[in-house]
Amino acid sequence: MFKWLKHRKADDKYLVLIGCTFVMTGLLIAWISRNAAVWLHVSRMCSEDVCFFIGYQVLILSGLLFWRFLICLWKYKKKLRKTGSMNSDVFRSKIISRKMAEAKLYGKAENREINMAIFASGAGSNAQRIIEHFIAPGQQNRRRVNIALVVCNNPAAGVLKIAGKQKIPTIIIEKDIFNKDGYLHELKEYKIDFIVLAGFMWKVPPLLIISYRNKIINIHPALLPKYGGKNMYGNFVHQAVLKAGEKESGITIHYVDELYDHGKIIFQAKCAVDEDETVETLAKKIHALEHEHYPKVIERVLDAN
Ligand code: GRF
Repeated sequence: MFKWLKHRKADDKYLVLIGCTFVMTGLLIAWISRNAAVWLHVSRMCSEDVCFFIGYQVLILSGLLFWRFLICLWKYKKKLRKTGSMNSDVFRSKIISRKMAEAKLYGKAENREINMAIFASGAGSNAQRIIEHFIAPGQQNRRRVNIALVVCNNPAAGVLKIAGKQKIPTIIIEKDIFNKDGYLHELKEYKIDFIVLAGFMWKVPPLLIISYRNKIINIHPALLPKYGGKNMYGNFVHQAVLKAGEKESGITIHYVDELYDHGKIIFQAKCAVDEDETVETLAKKIHALEHEHYPKVIERVLDAN
């Protein structure tokens, strides 16, 4: 035993402590055994021996088990802290419920940072506003949103420069791969929780929609359900609006589902279409509406998620 203790690097203080524990246990059991005869009204000699023997074993065994339990608990806590994967808060949740701890780590906890990806194909003025909105100084109280990735299908797109300036990682995607696996692997690698389409021209493949159900939103430069669908993008939308003689147009922010411009509408804002309106002037009005509302709506959606 002493060899084992030396091997475990037990110092003198521990040896004294262990010795004292044995002595105290012995004395306690001897006292209990002596009085047991009186309490139980049996022959003194017989009860004293039996009580001493049984009581000593029981006390030593439960002490050892308790000691072992404390060591395990201490080692487990130490391991969790060392890996850095959990703070004491999550550790507590883990004891209460593993599911709750997972929720904290992977997306549902109030204070956890949300990793957002922006998908864009063009100039990226909306992407710029979104980035500015979420990284603007003095916004620390706002739910923490990390723009973790910009995904783009066009190597010449302005949005790549905007992302580069802010040191946001970018990936340029290819249509075949996108349609096949939605770049799901890369999105998981960047731990993306939420996707914002800001002028993204390709249809989102089903796999991505299923994996991010109600976690992908889009902005459309008209009042859906009118002027949406395949080939209704950019100036084509404004041309159609003017041609139809509409008195008003606007923007629609909606969830993305399997069909073009079809998912549940989250928000709309309108603007008047004037008598002398041109595609260019209407595009300008629409852009102004988008820049004003899109970042705020994203924030509201994230808060509600
Ligand atoms: C916006 O008008 C948006 O509604 C549409 O594409 C345009 C993107 O503009 N989906 P930008 O690249 O953000 O300037």
